[in-house]
Amino acid sequence: MTISIRRLNGALGAEVGGVDLARPLDAATADAIRAAFVGHAVLVFRGQDLDPAAQVAFTRLLGTPERHVLQQFALPEAPDVFVISNVKEKGQPKGAIRAGQYWHSDLSYTARPTSASLLHAIRIPSYGGDTMFAGMAAAFDALSPTMQGMLDGLRAVHDYTLAYETFFSRFADRPPLTAEQKAAVPPVEHPLVRTHPESGRRALFVNPGFTRRIVGLAPEESRALLDFLFAHATRPDLVYRHVWRAGDLVMWDNRSTMHLAVADYDMDEPRHMHRTSVQGDVPR
Ligand code: SIN
Repeated sequence: MTISIRRLNGALGAEVGGVDLARPLDAATADAIRAAFVGHAVLVFRGQDLDPAAQVAFTRLLGTPERHVLQQFALPEAPDVFVISNVKEKGQPKGAIRAGQYWHSDLSYTARPTSASLLHAIRIPSYGGDTMFAGMAAAFDALSPTMQGMLDGLRAVHDYTLAYETFFSRFADRPPLTAEQKAAVPPVEHPLVRTHPESGRRALFVNPGFTRRIVGLAPEESRALLDFLFAHATRPDLVYRHVWRAGDLVMWDNRSTMHLAVADYDMDEPRHMHRTSVQGDVPR
């Protein structure tokens, strides 16, 4: 299989052509995809006709699939597939509604946050519903050496319940976490700057969705520094915006990006996606 790789912008993202992900990949193609993934952080594969089993099989090429704490939104026949959807059946959402409509890095609130996430677009609205990706390694590189030095060694607390306090609590159609789900995701601490285990590149590792505070700073110092870092990391030159087509499979590296699902579409139009994820390492 000969694949093509075309960069999508200056900071991150590439479109990969010439691959049918529903078929078994030869070793050279799988290696080329893994290398492109580490190099570009976001990979776009257009026109993929993938059933859940094929998506899970491709996900396994990158590591061990992991399951989300909201298991009520997993496919019963393929529990590694997490459904993100605004489609309702008898008034009940068929998947996690309003998922990721704030900047975040998947499962940064766990001890071993997701390395790769893979999102397959099944149904998309007639306009809007794009996903934006911010390059956190490019954001780190764009800081002054003095600021980089100040951030080195800092740690931050990540907490899933923050997203419920600041975002989901506004919407009646997004069920709150159960006591059991909350207990499964206690707050965790991670370095504020992490080193990518494969590329060795350093990246900011904080996000507005889940980062509650920087350890050791006064609340107002922590807020000011986090707000600066979030504004810096989401500069237009550091962001790739993906305009979905049905059949797209987009995979991103949560170790060096954060992302946001843009909530600008008509909620009466279906936006239905299947996500799989790979468990990552302890950030260092
Ligand atoms: C997510 O945060 O994984 C959801 C992204 C999207 O729906 O575009």
